[in-house]
Amino acid sequence: MAMASRFAFFLVCLSILSSTTRSELVISRIDRRVDLTSHIVRILSSIKVENVGNEVVSEVLLAFPNTQAKNLAAIKTLYNEGKGKAKSSSVSLPIRVAQPEGMPPELTFYSISLPKGLEKGGAAAFDVLTVFTHSLQPFPEEITQADVQLVLFQDSAYYLSPYAVKVQTLGIRLPGGRLESYTKYPNAKLVDSELRYGPFADVPAFSYTPIIVHFENNYPFAVAHDLVREIEISHWGNVQITEHYTLAHGGARTKGGFSRFDYQARPSARGLSSFSHLIFRLPPRAHSIYYRDEIGNISTSHLWGDSRKTQLEIEPRFPIFGGWKTTFTIGYGLPLQDFVFKVDGKRMLNITFGSPMDEVVIDNLIVKVVLPEGSNAITASVPLPVKQGEEIKYSHLDIVGRPVLVLQKNDVVPEDNLYFQVYYQFNNFSLLREPMMLISGFFLLFVACIAYMHIDMSISKSSASYLAKIQSEEVQATVQQVQNIINQCLAVHDKLEASLRDLSRTGDVQSCKTARRTADAQLKELVKELKPLVSFLHHSPQAFHIWPKVDELIAKEKEMQEKMFVKHSTVVDYFEKKLSGREIENRIAAQQQKLAALRQEIDDLLEFLDEI
Ligand SMILES: *[C@@H]1O[C@H](CO)[C@@H](O)[C@H](O)[C@H]1NC(C)=O
Ligand SMILES: *[C@@H]1O[C@H](CO)[C@@H](O)[C@H](O)[C@H]1NC(C)=O
Repeated sequence: MAMASRFAFFLVCLSILSSTTRSELVISRIDRRVDLTSHIVRILSSIKVENVGNEVVSEVLLAFPNTQAKNLAAIKTLYNEGKGKAKSSSVSLPIRVAQPEGMPPELTFYSISLPKGLEKGGAAAFDVLTVFTHSLQPFPEEITQADVQLVLFQDSAYYLSPYAVKVQTLGIRLPGGRLESYTKYPNAKLVDSELRYGPFADVPAFSYTPIIVHFENNYPFAVAHDLVREIEISHWGNVQITEHYTLAHGGARTKGGFSRFDYQARPSARGLSSFSHLIFRLPPRAHSIYYRDEIGNISTSHLWGDSRKTQLEIEPRFPIFGGWKTTFTIGYGLPLQDFVFKVDGKRMLNITFGSPMDEVVIDNLIVKVVLPEGSNAITASVPLPVKQGEEIKYSHLDIVGRPVLVLQKNDVVPEDNLYFQVYYQFNNFSLLREPMMLISGFFLLFVACIAYMHIDMSISKSSASYLAKIQSEEVQATVQQVQNIINQCLAVHDKLEASLRDLSRTGDVQSCKTARRTADAQLKELVKELKPLVSFLHHSPQAFHIWPKVDELIAKEKEMQEKMFVKHSTVVDYFEKKLSGREIENRIAAQQQKLAALRQEIDDLLEFLDEI
């Protein structure tokens, strides 16, 4: 294995180092406990150092091979003040990357500052928690849906340190399940699901002896390649959180394709290491919670909570197997008063930094704090090494935009889910700006509407097309009136006809003559009404194609009136001369024909005008 040669190289350079370095400090005891039960490797080391030199020492160095250091996501120290069992309180000690002289480039050093210098013979005890990501290597790298996931973990049985170590132990806690193999030298034993190495006595500085553990670990290797958390503050009472995840299963890749049938039918093919649900621990009083993937909202989510937390469990559409990826968004609102406070005339947001998701490793985390428009003097206090930047976000109604504080960190682990603070100044008057804008906006809109309607009319009234439209409407109305009058004339004609029929039935000449006079008067009235209409049509440019027909209609009606009266006189005349009904009919047959033809022509003209 390539790994082995790398370790060999280590051993060579480390043995050279041990003979050349000289230190004031020795580690009188170190107990390391490695937790391999999830996919995040945590090592808690309880260290006791002793000053055996003559100088006062206040810095303690920790050494890591570069291959391990590159996966070091978090390092924390706990210093126990007080002696022995009565540990009164714990404080964390300042820690920084160090580059001590004369050390090989294969090692990365961290330096811890002790609260007070150690005199000759003095001792100090503290704990160091180191958290590593991507440190369990799936082996085999590809498995099928039905296989368990096996991984490799490597470290050194001896604690790698620039100091000699008097007494040391190492314990490795495994998740249980299969243990394929483990390095048995030096002095290893397995107790339940814990591997124990040591105790070892008097190991020189820079000792390194590689161990490899090959074991079953079906923990869902949830890795967010990218997570963008947006925390948007609204002084109207809400802190809105939106989290965009690109989540992958960082374990052994799945080969041979996925069978949903197998997945559902055979529990053994469930993919022990796959994850079918994700758990988020949201703050208490979280509300308006949603979960959405590329396709849309997911309904299969469960939510429960108490006064201390809200727990959201979501089920992706597909179980996530090794090497698979999914993207989704969760969002929720939080009460403003739980997270934003007034401190010394400033506002302070105090909220957690990382993801609320269980045991997730975040390769690239971006936290954007969107402050209300008009905020200024923005400062952040983050208990983690982060890159800071600023942006502007625009949403509706914004004029200058909202200031956005952007924090970025790689390799984020649950230990980084610490509270951070953003301080900013905000004038309450700014709060009223948006409603004022809304109100004045509506007012302006209102004014604009009035102005628009006003302008619309004044423009259109004088516009040629508007005039044309009005005129053609007037022409149509006039033609309609003409038609009405002609129809009334026709009705009068019908009454005259009826009076002739009555005459033949009753022989009452007098009432027939009266009917004629009435008809004459009615027709004269109607013709008078026609005059202004016809003259309007003659003067209207829109009626140039209509008025000849109207004139024709009126002329025909006039002709029909004349013929009607002639017929009427003739019939009455013959009746008084006592001619028989048949004889009268014969004599007026030609007139009757002419009248029917005229009636037909009038009906045709009326129909034609109807269609305009
Ligand atoms: C998803 O749910 C949220 C909150 O319940 C809702 O506002 C949104 O309209 C929903 N979207 C779709 C696509 O259903
Ligand atoms: C932030 O909130 C946490 C939890 O409520 C609290 O422990 C911490 O003291 C707060 N930090 C500041 C600076 O107020």
